[in-house]
Amino acid sequence: MPVLFRLYTTKINYMSAPTINVTGMLKDDALKGKTIIITGGGTGLGKSMGTYFLTLGANLVITSRKLDVLQKAADEMQAATGGKVLAVACDVRNYEEVEKMLLQAVETFGRADVLLNNAAGNFISPTERLSANAFAAIIDIVLKGSVNCSLALGKYWIKENIPGNILNIVTTYAFTGSAYVVPSACAKGGVLAMTRSLAVEWGRHGIRTNAIAPGPFPTKGAWERLLPGEMAQKFDFKNRVPLKRVGEHQELANLAAFLVSDFSGYINGEVITIDGGEWLQGAGQFNALEMIPPQMWDSIEQATRKA
Ligand code: HXC
Ligand code: NAP
Repeated sequence: MPVLFRLYTTKINYMSAPTINVTGMLKDDALKGKTIIITGGGTGLGKSMGTYFLTLGANLVITSRKLDVLQKAADEMQAATGGKVLAVACDVRNYEEVEKMLLQAVETFGRADVLLNNAAGNFISPTERLSANAFAAIIDIVLKGSVNCSLALGKYWIKENIPGNILNIVTTYAFTGSAYVVPSACAKGGVLAMTRSLAVEWGRHGIRTNAIAPGPFPTKGAWERLLPGEMAQKFDFKNRVPLKRVGEHQELANLAAFLVSDFSGYINGEVITIDGGEWLQGAGQFNALEMIPPQMWDSIEQATRKA
């Protein structure tokens, strides 16, 4: 059988990833006195990052469209950490709602120091099946929503002379692009451009702007929309990752806490990828050769030497 044919019919024996034990990274008072606004903070990664910020002494404002979800999350987060959480219903697509949310945050905690643009909307679909409204729905939540929040906070920080901090959650396909999630890729690419642009423009006000590009971190919101039903098994994300595992929420929370803390005070305009090497795995032309079982390399070597 020709080598290449054998290659593509060979089952890959993925090595199982070693069990990891992730703990909090920063010292207990690393975020003491900081008020952090997290959009989409009542679910998934927003909730995990927020919970860790609370243990580091931050005050938290969590926002999204569903107040009942937010309030329940706030109660759980406060009970788990003893920290203070304000839940505010705010649709990031609406600038007036964002301004009102900021006002509430400042009234409650005295000031707002950090904006974590985490809210997002997404689903998989061939692009030609999308209506213009479906495309716009994602752009509005992700790009317009991040713009609205950054604009409101930026105006407030500059007026009050506060050295604010914006952290944007993007994805690795913000820089690679990706089929079947084109509205999200366009929107996240825009957020990345905003990150680098504002880092320069607002740097002179002491405002830092950075981004994190996470790889796969299982959450209900993402998995139900991106890997519905049997797709979760068929397209098991961990098989795409050189480290052969998905991310632990605490790993993301550690990076986010560092970037919103003063320990990262000289990092500005950066996007930090945390994906176990996933996007590079897809990029290298010969990376798929991991499919070759070790015993097949002997015959391949003979063939290449002969050539
Ligand atoms: C095609 C769809 C669709 C689908 C909705 N639409 N779902 N089109 N396929 N699966 C269309 C609708 O028909 C409508 O167009 C338009 O989109 C707006 O739909 P609404 O339901 O009215 O929008 P809305 O209520 O604003 O809900 C937004 C949403 C929803 C994005 C559709 O899923 C949502 O609320 N998501 C929030 C949470 C989320 O998505 N989390 C995942 C983030 S994960 P018409 O023309 O009919 O009016 C992520 C991970 C990245 O970003 C990387 C992972 C590895
Ligand atoms: P998630 O739980 O579905 O989080 C999305 C949040 O956004 C929800 O809390 C949702 O709350 C909120 N939201 C949606 N539309 C909104 C609007 N118009 N106004 C305000 N809030 C809105 O998914 P997740 O996986 O944790 O995703 C969090 C972030 O990580 C997103 O930016 C996502 O793109 C990014 N990310 C995730 C992964 C992953 O593997 N999970 C990978 C790369 C990047 P409501 O519905 O109540 O509004």
